[in-house]
Amino acid sequence: MLAKIVPTMLFFKLWALMPLALLIVIGGPPHANGEPQLGSAVSPLASIVNPVRGILDPVVGVLSPVVEVVTGLAPIPGALLGAVAPHTDVLNPLLQSALLQNNITQFSSDIVTSLTAVVGLVANALLPVPPYLRPDQEAPKFGFVGEAYNVTTSDGYILGVFRVRSGTCRSYRSVVIIPPGVLSNAASFIFLKENSLVYRLARECNDVWLLTFRGYIFGRGHTRLSDTSSEFWDYYQYHWGVYDLPAQIEFVYRKTNSTRMRYFGVDQSGTALLFMNHVHGQRYQRFLAATYLFAPIGYLGRLKSVVFATLAVLRDGLTAAGALVLHNEVAFMNPTIHSVLYNLCGRISPITCYYIFQILAGNSREINYPLFPYMFANLLDSISVTTINYYLQQVGKINYMAYFDYGPAENLRRYNRTTPENVNIAATTVPCNFYALGSDSVTVPEDVLATYRALAPSARASFQVLDKYSGVSGLFAVDTEGIYGPAIRRLNADLASGA
Ligand SMILES: *[C@@H]1O[C@H](CO)[C@@H](O)[C@H](O)[C@H]1NC(C)=O
Ligand SMILES: *[C@@H]1O[C@H](CO)[C@@H](O)[C@H](O)[C@H]1NC(C)=O
Ligand SMILES: *[C@@H]1O[C@H](CO)[C@@H](O)[C@H](O)[C@H]1NC(C)=O
Ligand SMILES: *[C@@H]1O[C@H](CO)[C@@H](O)[C@H](O)[C@H]1NC(C)=O
Repeated sequence: MLAKIVPTMLFFKLWALMPLALLIVIGGPPHANGEPQLGSAVSPLASIVNPVRGILDPVVGVLSPVVEVVTGLAPIPGALLGAVAPHTDVLNPLLQSALLQNNITQFSSDIVTSLTAVVGLVANALLPVPPYLRPDQEAPKFGFVGEAYNVTTSDGYILGVFRVRSGTCRSYRSVVIIPPGVLSNAASFIFLKENSLVYRLARECNDVWLLTFRGYIFGRGHTRLSDTSSEFWDYYQYHWGVYDLPAQIEFVYRKTNSTRMRYFGVDQSGTALLFMNHVHGQRYQRFLAATYLFAPIGYLGRLKSVVFATLAVLRDGLTAAGALVLHNEVAFMNPTIHSVLYNLCGRISPITCYYIFQILAGNSREINYPLFPYMFANLLDSISVTTINYYLQQVGKINYMAYFDYGPAENLRRYNRTTPENVNIAATTVPCNFYALGSDSVTVPEDVLATYRALAPSARASFQVLDKYSGVSGLFAVDTEGIYGPAIRRLNADLASGA
């Protein structure tokens, strides 16, 4: 047995070290923008390759006109693929009821988890990845007070909640809660340092709380389950809205007594909110006075991103790969993958990742890539395969938002019905301010507007399109006033008028 496993291990390790070897040859640690290094320990090897940092950037820079043309064309085939996507679920019903619950997949996933942990250790010794940004520890560096708490949901997930506020305010004007965006976490809205949404709100004497959704780096604890089990990763946006938001809203209420919370967020924060209100009605939205949401996702049928439209066509493959390789986790925070991503986007060539984000999310220059060495300590974050598939199921279906479709047999087992229930978007009655992002190819403004129109009349507070931004600009904007200014002015007007 051992004799069989050891050569496999060696092979796997060598294979996984290839990209790292490449990274070591072509690049080195960053000091982009004169950013202070986060990790204090720099390996001897890293200091040798230091002088050749960012060596790929000029090459990619020369290619930029070509890349921009390609990303400009992407929406057209994206829309075509989107039209095909609803009809390409062949294996999924079978996969959902068999493969995902299977012990063999857990066994293969355990092997991959152990191997990648070893490779991650080696990688980290060669090119250290800085520690994760923790909002409670970052806040004091920018002159604010930070606090950290854990909140346990009714189904056992342990979620990190962070509070950031100014120590010099005599009282606070409002309590703001901010859940994380897609593939991101509680640090999403501090990436832009002094210009970030969190610090801007805190500077103006708002009491800011950063929330966590299960699966993200501050939400990998559970009272009973291991974060390497398929059962832990058996969740999607429904669970964020129906379990994670309520537990944290109640927690913030107990800490502040506020029943006038302001809910800020991007993309999936909208999805979670719609699920929460569909299931719980007024029970938790009565703690909210208003929401301010960038590119909120309710409907997603008109998605144009060529990458996500392709994934929507290939989602059976994604399900199978996720189940077989890593317990249904899209494992960006796997130590090996995180190390490769950090070194590529944070050290070797931030501009390459700038173009990758353009191709993924839309042709916008509003991506502040010089800050990537700071941000990529926390990016990209892990998510469950079902969470990605949930959005992919909507591609090409106009004005469609329902529960996850597991296929007839599994639907019957989970929901006691063969087709998934629709989500009643009109259950959301709290005043909502929607900011669609005009250059977004994922959450396109037409879908955001259609979602807005489906809200209860009392919820339609304002709708605005911010033209030059894409879906990732919510976290990475260069012109931060252009994206956050309208929502912050709206908040201030609401506070002044008592709305
Ligand atoms: C499969 O795993 C579950 C726990 O995840 C265990 O209860 C069950 O007995 C296992 N089945 C087999 C056939 O090993
Ligand atoms: C929260 O729980 C995690 C483990 O799930 C632990 O590592 C962390 O230190 C805890 N944080 C606080 C503030 O208690
Ligand atoms: C919340 O209100 C209760 C009852 O009025 C009070 O005892 C408590 O101190 C308040 N807590 C905070 C954090 O203001
Ligand atoms: C399942 O649905 C059927 C018919 O819709 C109903 O009679 C039955 O009580 C339901 N079972 C459960 C466990 O909810």
